[in-house]
Amino acid sequence: MLEFRDVRKSFQSGEETIRAIDGLSLTVPSGEMIALFGPSGSGKSTLLRIAAAIEPPDSGAVMVDGQDITTLGARDASAYRLRTVGWVGQQADLIAGASALDNAAMKALVVLGTWRRAREQVVPILQTLGLGRRLDHRVETLSTGEQQRVMLARALSTEPRVLLADEPTGNLDRRRGDEVLELLRTITHEHDVATVLVTHDAHAIAFADRALTLEDGTLTEAITTS
Ligand SMILES: Nc1ncnc2c1ncn2[C@@H]1O[C@H](COP(=O)(O)OP(=O)(O)OP(=O)(O)O)[C@@H](O)[C@H]1O
Ligand SMILES: [Mg+2]
Repeated sequence: MLEFRDVRKSFQSGEETIRAIDGLSLTVPSGEMIALFGPSGSGKSTLLRIAAAIEPPDSGAVMVDGQDITTLGARDASAYRLRTVGWVGQQADLIAGASALDNAAMKALVVLGTWRRAREQVVPILQTLGLGRRLDHRVETLSTGEQQRVMLARALSTEPRVLLADEPTGNLDRRRGDEVLELLRTITHEHDVATVLVTHDAHAIAFADRALTLEDGTLTEAITTS
């Protein structure tokens, strides 16, 4: 379970104070996927970074399976990101010249200790994502959508308890996008993961258990008709 308790985060921009997250509380039970909407600049990525212990909130707590991850020291925060969090960011973060397989296996390598075990872990995930024929291809030769799926495979490779996805379908066509959303839904439900899916795609609502909108740093139930 992932729980935000009265989380606040401001940024100073010259004279102006940007209240990116303004007293936000939200519970994401394990096995549930939340679709998070909101205009550009509304704090969605900031919220995910806080949940991933990439940056701390100014105040409030983020509980993950009973522990407040905002109080972790650097070493524990790093272990939390590796072992507990699956992160799919807005940009692909891949090592050019290395294969799709090795790029996807990198995180599992740190956790499992050998390339053999890491590759064994990640090959079936890449196959599920339709990359079975791309395993040995250098990542820079893959399409943007394929690169996004390599990132997703990496995120899923360590069987995360918390899955944080920032626009994972932004660069995909409808069919591939739907496959990724379906995969996120399946993993969330079958592996009992707490998932937050940031998206601009109203269509993603159909895959989520709940949809919310972030505006002015607080949440409202999302109202979408499509
Ligand atoms: N490190 C930072 N320093 C200063 N301002 C920041 C910082 N990070 C985020 N902000 C500001 O906080 C607000 C929220 O940013 P955030 O990236 O979370 O928005 P977002 O909802 O993810 O937008 P988008 O849909 O465009 O990705 C923005 O006004 C942004 O400029
Ligand atoms: Mg963002």
